[in-house]
Amino acid sequence: GAHPPVPAHDIASCLVSNGVTNFSLPASKSFKPILDSSLRYLRFDVPSVGKPAAIVLPASQRELQRAVLCARSSSLAIRVRSGGHSYEGLSYTSENHVPFVVIDLANLNQVRVDPASATIWAESGATLGQLYHAVGQSNRTLAFPGGTCSTIGLGGFVSGGGFGLLSRKFGLAVDNVLDATLIDPSGRALTRATMDADVFWAIRGGGGGSWGVVYAWKLRLVPVPGTITVFDIDRRGPADLIAGLIHKWQYVGPHLPDEFYISTRIYFKPKSTNGGNLTMSFTGQVLGPKHLALSVLNKAYPELRLAESELSEVSWVESAAKFAGLFSVADLTSRQIGVGEYAKRKSDYVQAPISEQDMVKVARYMTAAPTEGSIQLNPYGAAMARIGSSETPFPHRAGFLYSAQYAIDWRASENDRSGEYMGWLRSFYEFMAPFVSKNPRGAYVNYVDLDLGTNNWTTVTGGPLSFSSVSHAASWGQRYFLHNFDRLVRAKSKIDPLNVFNNAQSIPPSH
Ligand code: FDA
Repeated sequence: GAHPPVPAHDIASCLVSNGVTNFSLPASKSFKPILDSSLRYLRFDVPSVGKPAAIVLPASQRELQRAVLCARSSSLAIRVRSGGHSYEGLSYTSENHVPFVVIDLANLNQVRVDPASATIWAESGATLGQLYHAVGQSNRTLAFPGGTCSTIGLGGFVSGGGFGLLSRKFGLAVDNVLDATLIDPSGRALTRATMDADVFWAIRGGGGGSWGVVYAWKLRLVPVPGTITVFDIDRRGPADLIAGLIHKWQYVGPHLPDEFYISTRIYFKPKSTNGGNLTMSFTGQVLGPKHLALSVLNKAYPELRLAESELSEVSWVESAAKFAGLFSVADLTSRQIGVGEYAKRKSDYVQAPISEQDMVKVARYMTAAPTEGSIQLNPYGAAMARIGSSETPFPHRAGFLYSAQYAIDWRASENDRSGEYMGWLRSFYEFMAPFVSKNPRGAYVNYVDLDLGTNNWTTVTGGPLSFSSVSHAASWGQRYFLHNFDRLVRAKSKIDPLNVFNNAQSIPPSH
């Protein structure tokens, strides 16, 4: 637009005079339902966590640009929300009670598929499910390498890398980004052609909330067979037996051909009827027919005792619905399924297989969980190992066998024990230290974890601390990004030297 925005010190009048009418203020009846609409982690839905001064839901790129400028002219910090799935609530909270506005992209969820060029333009507020649904409608043999949960927002997912069942074949979501539109701190819309190369690199995995608002992404779609094979099975047993199965998985999951994906989640439910047993559930996807899946897996992993009856042949989009836990492909478009849980999660990377003896100790540790404790192991290798560790900010490529995600989940009725539960998870994490990557101990930025350290912003624009905020941020930033951290700081200094876009773990500019 040619007209400069009308500044105003009050966000509501600024928005109205700039033609942005869809917003909610704390006094409004709509405020709490809108705030809660994609608030995934309910431990941030308590009175002690500060609430935004306004929630704006822009309906166009232009309204989004105006919302950024109005936030700045009214001296509010900006928190951008796409799907609201941040493990630490970073899209709808601020540090030190700094006043802030949530710019919620839920209404910016258009997805335009171009099957001829196998590309897609998607607004950041689209969920992965909406994207999968649109791809599935257009062509049975096209797919996008995204994650398993259908309500994750594209904005946060891609900003942090984006791993999923197709990543061993096609890499992360960020490895398939062709272009993007970034709204910068001055409200300008930049594309790949007009943005600095370091910045285009940084927005593809350097974490959400540091660079501006990504309004939309141009993504490469990938070819898949019209029919693929999937399975979702459980194996249950005492810790020592399950330990053997996990131990063997380490030699299978990361080493199978690119077309094979088999991840596992090991969990323990103290109150369940299965005594001291652990459950190991497997998520499997093979880009090929049943008989191929069965013959390869029974040779590589006979201990799994995979039966033909456990396999199904489906289209890729049907598999996406299945693994998201949905009844039908149509449910992929729902933004409300499964929103809201009490949990804490942490992550690690494993570079060398854990010995069977040590795996027994890991499994036994889990059977002492005070409530549902779990560990999710995602296999790397294949394309993940062939893509260079500096091609994008995401550094965990060759040499990283698999990622581990530790979780503890509880019910609302157990909230008085949340401190104990999170304490158990933190001690499990300490216990795992000898077995995982070191110097630094790696972590995945999309599994954001404030235990690793935090910025201590005290002003709306972040206002750098008196001591070196860059070296402070390096203490967790290098764990997410390894050697790529320095280039992220360079990119930040170019695109946002005033630190307008910040959060508890954002990349600080250098001074
Ligand atoms: P949310 O809106 O909370 O944003 C996350 C961060 O990105 C915030 O800091 C936010 O400010 C910023 N941000 C959001 N939109 C932005 C935009 N348009 N421009 C710039 N910054 C923006 N991950 C994975 O790789 N593979 C997986 O399979 C899964 N599975 C999974 C399941 C479940 C149930 C959950 C809760 C999470 C995952 N994840 C995952 C992790 C997920 O990728 C991560 O939480 C994403 O950051 C969520 O993105 P949202 O947009 O939903 O979150």
